[in-house]
Amino acid sequence: MLAMNYRGPLRVRIDHKPEPQIEHPQDAVVRVTRSCICGSDLHLYNGSVPDTRPGMTFGHEVTGVVEEVGPGVEKLKVGDQVLVPFNIACGKCVFCQQELYGNCHESNSQATAVGGIFGYSHTAGGYDGGQAEYVRVPYADVGPTVIPENMDPDDAVMLTDVVPTGYQAAEMGGIQPGDTVVVFGAGPVGIMAARCAWLFGAGRVIVIDEVDYRLEFVRNYAPCEAYNFRELGDVVVFLKRTTDWMGADVVIDAVGAEASGRVMQTLLGRKLLMQGGSATALHWAINSVKKGGIVSIVGVYGPIDTLVPIGNVVNKGLTIRGNQASVKRLLPRLIEHVQNGILDPKALITHRIPLEEVSDAYRIFSAKLDNCIKPVLLPPSARS
Ligand SMILES: NC(=O)c1ccc[n+]([C@@H]2O[C@H](COP(=O)([O-])OP(=O)(O)OC[C@H]3O[C@@H](n4cnc5c(N)ncnc54)[C@H](O)[C@@H]3O)[C@@H](O)[C@H]2O)c1
Ligand SMILES: [Zn+2]
Ligand SMILES: [Zn+2]
Repeated sequence: MLAMNYRGPLRVRIDHKPEPQIEHPQDAVVRVTRSCICGSDLHLYNGSVPDTRPGMTFGHEVTGVVEEVGPGVEKLKVGDQVLVPFNIACGKCVFCQQELYGNCHESNSQATAVGGIFGYSHTAGGYDGGQAEYVRVPYADVGPTVIPENMDPDDAVMLTDVVPTGYQAAEMGGIQPGDTVVVFGAGPVGIMAARCAWLFGAGRVIVIDEVDYRLEFVRNYAPCEAYNFRELGDVVVFLKRTTDWMGADVVIDAVGAEASGRVMQTLLGRKLLMQGGSATALHWAINSVKKGGIVSIVGVYGPIDTLVPIGNVVNKGLTIRGNQASVKRLLPRLIEHVQNGILDPKALITHRIPLEEVSDAYRIFSAKLDNCIKPVLLPPSARS
């Protein structure tokens, strides 16, 4: 089959690989109809996630048709059209029982932090992902969810990650009615977090990024105030000033470990590799939230240490929450929100690119060319 193949930092190409097989009674094989590229894939693409092995296929935001099921699969049938959450979860361990599907103890049993994730290095279990014609889906009765008949497949693919992650970012912020919410990052996740902040009763939503077309998009889509940090001078001082010197009630980090904006962080974390990336957005989040406020982190940080102003966390009495989104927990509510028109996730999809052109797709998304917000890869069978 055709599959994206990681060859090393900044090098991905389309290749032929053997089609995946049922390896376990609870597996399914899914024929992919759509697979997105995510900001999380850029961490892999840039070579900043430990143990990302050449030969791996990325892709954790997938819809498709069930092609084959193992003998232990009870709920899913051949021919079902499904959306596949990015988390691989057993559904039975102590963490899955608490609906912490991003922290499954079985699907990535050699790790003690993150659970398994499709196409996300051996740090997240070493599973091949869905930027391919077919993908093997373990624990097939747990994650994959049949797409409701009236749902646009472009909305469905956004429910595998971006919508739940943006929603959970807002949820973890514990937003109270009237709160001022600041979101760092106007990528798909930050855009969705800003949109969802209103659902929790925010009174004011401010988004910070450095890419003007994304700021323009979120300003209309969320809708919200949106600022380019390059034009603000000191972004923390700006955010304090605009909140009567109190700071925001809730700040969301939707950037993660490859932030730009501070020379010291970029130098130590991205050039000299002396820490796990650059925690600039998190630094700004801690410093611009009010005393007693909440910082919600969905931007990805790896297992390596990162410099953040922990003293300010203590002295300001902050609550910090973070996690990989628990997609399955949120799906029933979010499917309803899409069906009722409260959320319109497909509006974020700006690019539909043939799977065969995967290396161009990575370049466009990574370099933020052509006003790209969210690219979707379409395998040949999904185009005919
Ligand atoms: N926790 C989860 O479950 C989960 C799920 C999906 C994605 N993520 C993570 O969320 C983050 C965002 O994902 P995305 O798909 O939107 O990525 P993206 O790369 O498209 O967007 C990131 C945005 O951050 C901006 N940015 C860079 N430095 C900044 C700074 N200092 N301040 C403000 N903005 C800055 C960039 O210009 C870019 O627009 C990534 O780290 C991704 O790995 C987490
Ligand atoms: Zn993703
Ligand atoms: Zn589990």
